[in-house]
Amino acid sequence: MPLPALRFEVFTLFPEVFEPYLHSSILQRARQRGLVEVNLYNIRDWTTDRHHITDDEPYGGGGGMVMKPEPIFAALESVLGAPPACPVILLTPQGRTFTQSVAHELAFGEAPAFDQTRRLALLCGRYEGVDERVRQHLVSDQISIGDYVLTGGELAALVVIDATARWIPGVLGDPNGALDDSHASGLLEYPHYTRPPEFRGWSVPDILLSGDHGRIARWRREQSILRTWQRRRDLLETAPLSKLDRKFLDQLKTSTVYDEPDVSSETPGTGESPQTPDTP
Ligand code: ADE
Repeated sequence: MPLPALRFEVFTLFPEVFEPYLHSSILQRARQRGLVEVNLYNIRDWTTDRHHITDDEPYGGGGGMVMKPEPIFAALESVLGAPPACPVILLTPQGRTFTQSVAHELAFGEAPAFDQTRRLALLCGRYEGVDERVRQHLVSDQISIGDYVLTGGELAALVVIDATARWIPGVLGDPNGALDDSHASGLLEYPHYTRPPEFRGWSVPDILLSGDHGRIARWRREQSILRTWQRRRDLLETAPLSKLDRKFLDQLKTSTVYDEPDVSSETPGTGESPQTPDTP
């Protein structure tokens, strides 16, 4: 049985920021096909004062403004119930780091209640932050998309929606799409080429034109390991590797050619890296 749509309930002061991206190709199609639903709520609509104020000065002084608790509680509780009947995720640089496996966790959830509702609330902070009582009494999870500070949580919420939606079966054209991605296997992805076979004198590696699917698969695996070795050695500490993968990695470790982490150079376009000429 197909999964019910994954529903994102997004609470923000800037709903208009989301529209263009949600109407772009893959997410638009996923929404039209009922795989993903995104509902946007403007927190300002739940203010009760004449000026629709959503922020105020911090107690104790200091710069910046703090988002007031009343409109946030009112918005979330009126849409989600009190207490909210689904996870409430605050986008904040203080949250746990968002990764491909957190995206998977959000897409497939573990709590039995989530299985039925498949609903996630995303709360976008602005200004200096939100009143701490929101964090303590309304929010159930906090996510950061990286160690930098954005002007608000909106871009982070889009990142979470996009990366999570890609896991849902049917969202990508290729059924294995998300499984091959960089990070899904714990490694960076292998290099891709398309036509023409030669462009400005730069050729596509011969092996990709060979039609030998077994050797192509092995070459791609080794390229993934090589790239990860060059760019993100930390990932190799936890990536699941076969015996054959480990042998290849050991060769890399003893080779001086690939000794230095290198984020700029591409692997040679000769078909195979020097260590992999004869792998089956
Ligand atoms: N809001 C501001 N900066 C952020 C970040 N790095 N991740 C998530 N939300 C944020």
